[in-house]
Amino acid sequence: MGRTIRILSLLLLALTRGHAEDTSTTETHTETKTTEYGPISMVIDQLADMAVDVSDETSSQLQANIERTLMDITDNIDAMTTNAMAEMSIAIDDTNQLLMANPSCNAAWNMQEFTINVTDQLRACTMRLSGMIGAYRDDGQQVLSNVQSFVQQMAQLPILCQNQAMGAALAPLGLSFDNSNSCFLRGMTAINQGLAEAMHNASLLLVRTRRLSQEQGARSQQCSDAVVAQVVEYLRVQRANCS
Ligand SMILES: *[C@@H]1O[C@H](CO)[C@@H](O)[C@H](O)[C@H]1NC(C)=O
Ligand SMILES: *[C@@H]1O[C@H](CO)[C@@H](O)[C@H](O)[C@H]1NC(C)=O
Repeated sequence: MGRTIRILSLLLLALTRGHAEDTSTTETHTETKTTEYGPISMVIDQLADMAVDVSDETSSQLQANIERTLMDITDNIDAMTTNAMAEMSIAIDDTNQLLMANPSCNAAWNMQEFTINVTDQLRACTMRLSGMIGAYRDDGQQVLSNVQSFVQQMAQLPILCQNQAMGAALAPLGLSFDNSNSCFLRGMTAINQGLAEAMHNASLLLVRTRRLSQEQGARSQQCSDAVVAQVVEYLRVQRANCS
């Protein structure tokens, strides 16, 4: 984001300087104004293209950042469930072997059902964390499309300003004449501000989601640890009663 703003500021600075020179020359040679429009318009097109490229790149980075954050949360959930199951698997296997060899100990024992039950309990532990992924995906789409709408406005600005300049030239005596150069400057400044705000919103969302997913992740881990402890203890009692 910092880089975008820096580059856009440079563009605006270059354009302002060009504009100032343009104004000083047109003051003395008013009749050349229309002939100068062509090259300036080309410069504006190029500047707009460059700004769009930079902003496009920034919005791609933002998208990658959002996707990475989503992936991190998903990985976190997967790891939590996998680790918990791994911690219990030996106890489940040992208990299963003992109970299968001695059916009278617990006739109702069914390893598959027991495993499904435990998996359900673990899933309940990570449910809120999973819910965050869905909510964050929606919010992420929203901030991304906000950012992209400014990039689009940037791309359309030269044509918009050209039309405005043509419209103004048709106005009687060119009252409040607004050439496409200052239209582009003002437009770019406004779009730049909007883009900065949209990027700020996006980074707030990223920070908030990371913090929430950390808090929620810690809670899920506690819940998951408690399930493991309970299950391991339950299995220990089952084995103790069967010896
Ligand atoms: C799952 O296990 C818990 C205790 O281990 C038990 O209270 C509960 O009834 C079981 N649920 C199902 C659906 O088997
Ligand atoms: C930034 O977020 C605020 C608060 O949610 C919102 O009102 C504003 O429209 C957003 N700005 C942009 C440019 O997306």
